[in-house]
Amino acid sequence: MPRPSPWVRPHIHSLHPYLPGEQPKGKDLIKLNTNENPYGPSPRVLHAVKTAVSERLRLYPSPTADDLRARLAELHRCDPDQIIIGNGSDELLALATRAFVAPWSGRGNRARSTIQYFTPSYSLYPVLAAIHGGLQHEVPLTKQFGIPFSQRSQGPNWNPKAALSFVTTPNAPSGRGYRTSELRRLCRNTERPLILDEAYVDFAKEDAFELVAEFDHVLVSRTFSKAYSLCFQRIGYFIGPPPLIEALHKIRDSYNVNGLAQVAACATLDDLPYYRTNFRRIIKARQALGGRLEKMGFQVLPSATNFLLVKPPTRTGSARWWHQALRERGILVRWFSAPSVNPFLRITIGNPEENKALTKAVRDLLLNP
Ligand SMILES: Cc1ncc(COP(=O)(O)O)c(C=O)c1O
Repeated sequence: MPRPSPWVRPHIHSLHPYLPGEQPKGKDLIKLNTNENPYGPSPRVLHAVKTAVSERLRLYPSPTADDLRARLAELHRCDPDQIIIGNGSDELLALATRAFVAPWSGRGNRARSTIQYFTPSYSLYPVLAAIHGGLQHEVPLTKQFGIPFSQRSQGPNWNPKAALSFVTTPNAPSGRGYRTSELRRLCRNTERPLILDEAYVDFAKEDAFELVAEFDHVLVSRTFSKAYSLCFQRIGYFIGPPPLIEALHKIRDSYNVNGLAQVAACATLDDLPYYRTNFRRIIKARQALGGRLEKMGFQVLPSATNFLLVKPPTRTGSARWWHQALRERGILVRWFSAPSVNPFLRITIGNPEENKALTKAVRDLLLNP
C-alpha cells in the first residue's frame, strides 16, 4: 500500500471503494459471480459493431446518443427528452448523486444531504454517498427481503424527505421481485428524487415503468449489461421527468457514451425477439437449478432475476466455505460479507453446461466436503 498523500481530500483516504465481483484473467473458470448473461449478444449486434469499426473511429460519437434515445423513446412510448444514456447505469447513479444531493457540511438541513436505500441492496449506493460526502441512511428490508411497510407508511425508518432514494427492484442480491403497487406506495411516501433501479427487471413478472408517468420525482434506471448481454460495452439509461433528466445532461461528460456502445445498443433494439427467447431460457433454467439445489438441501429464495440467493444446508460448511470450495472446483459464485446476506451464496444462472457443472460440484461437495 502506498503512503497516503496529503494532497488527497481526507474523506477519500478513509473511503472503501466498490468491490466488484472477481473478473479472472486467463483461467478456465465457470463465471457465475457477476450476473452476466450466459448467452452472447445477437449476431446482428456483433455484425453492427464489427461494421462500425472503421475509419469512422477518428470522429466523436453523438454527444447525446440521439439515435439510441429516439429508439428507446419509441420502445417506451415516451419523449427523448425523458431519456439520458450513460456509460453503464453506474455512471448515471453517480450523476444523480451529484445532481440531487448536497454534500454534508456538518450543519444545516440533513435531509438535503441524505442518500437513502434499503439493505441489503446494490452495494454501490453507500460508496456513491461516501464519495460525494453525503449522509447515508440505510433502511433494513424485512427478513424475507420485503419492503418494510407499517400500518401508517414505510415504517419509522423511511425518510420521505431524503434528497435521493435508491430502490433496487427486483432486489439484488436477494432476487426478490416487488409489486408495482408496493413501489407506488413507496413513491407516494417519498418527496424527493427516487430511482427505481431495474437492472434485472427483464427477468421479472412486472416492471414499474408506469410510475415514471405518475410522479414528477421518480426515475427508472435500466441497463443493457445483464439482459442484453452488453456488460463489456458499458451502456445504461434513465427515464424520468424532463427537468431531472435535463439536470443530469448538464453535468455529464460531453461524450460520456462511446460510439461502439451506441451502435451495439441500437442493434440490440433491432432484435428484441432474440433476447426475449434468452430471458425465457434463463427463467426456465432458474426454476430447474433452484429445484435441484432445494432437493440437495439448500434454501432457495424466490427470484425475479437471473440469479439465485441460496443458503447451504446447515449440516455442511458456511456459505463462505462453499464459495471457496466451489472456486477450487473451477466455479465462481458470489459471497458477501454483509451480515444480512453472509449466510447465503449468490449464483448467476449460467448456460445448461454451466448449470450442470455447478450441480455436479455441489453434489460432489455434499458427498466429499
Ligand atoms: C442493481 C444494479 N444496478 C446497476 C448495476 C450496474 O449496471 P451497469 O453495468 O449498467 O453499470 C448493477 C450491476 O451489477 C446492479 O446489480
